[in-house]
Amino acid sequence: MDLDRIPQHIAIIMDGNGRWAKQRGKERSFGHQAGAETVHTIAEAAARLGVKYLTLYTFSIENWDRPSDEVSALMNLLVNSLEEEIFLKNNISFRVIGEIDKLPADVQNSLNSCIKNTAHNDGMCMVLALSYSSRWEITEAAKQIAREVQAEKMSVDAIDSHILASHLRTSFMPDPDLLIRTGGELRLSNYLLWQCAYSELYFCDTFWPDFKEEAFYKAIEDYQGRERRFGKTSEQVN
Ligand code: IPE
Ligand code: IPE
Ligand code: MG
Repeated sequence: MDLDRIPQHIAIIMDGNGRWAKQRGKERSFGHQAGAETVHTIAEAAARLGVKYLTLYTFSIENWDRPSDEVSALMNLLVNSLEEEIFLKNNISFRVIGEIDKLPADVQNSLNSCIKNTAHNDGMCMVLALSYSSRWEITEAAKQIAREVQAEKMSVDAIDSHILASHLRTSFMPDPDLLIRTGGELRLSNYLLWQCAYSELYFCDTFWPDFKEEAFYKAIEDYQGRERRFGKTSEQVN
């Protein structure tokens, strides 16, 4: 791995918890618990490498339609697995994107306290996407822009891709350089659709609970072997 070319922003679709548990004859929630351990491992590894933003798809708006016992197990896990020590020890600040007001009050409280207590950390920023979906986020941005136009704070002609991006929940971060999806599925499942326009995509079969440092480094090495052209020719970018 080239330590001078670590992606600034890595986004991850943490998939495969349920299948990992099923393989072991256990309940799906057992897989989510194991997955929470992997979050700590990967957050520490990313911070150590100097990654600036780590954005983790934790719960999609579509995931609300799962059986209610699984949804409550996930909500409980959120309250119980936010370990501030790990953030403090690794100089990580914590943020969330998504429909946070839809989450149970105890979850909101524990998220808010973690955000507040880690705000001064200036190493990596770890972002959980919670009750998040990309189409929801883009629709909200469109509504906000429409309100500003209606209030005559902005003209229609001023709207461009920068204005739209600045109204997304991710406006405080650069776009992901690398998007990783574990668990073998080859789709984006409504995650960061706008932001990943030019991200390098990496898919692997490993279920999220088994995705440890080695697998993470392998994804970064793969990324470092890519040529990012952004529409230009190879000659132009070299
Ligand atoms: C990802 O694992 C975690 C969430 C979506 C909350 P899954 O729960 O989707 O696991 P699989 O894909 O069913 O194995
Ligand atoms: C995507 O995984 C959402 C998260 C990882 C939080 P899903 O398991 O919900 O995605 P689909 O249903 O397979 O597309
Ligand atoms: Mg899944």
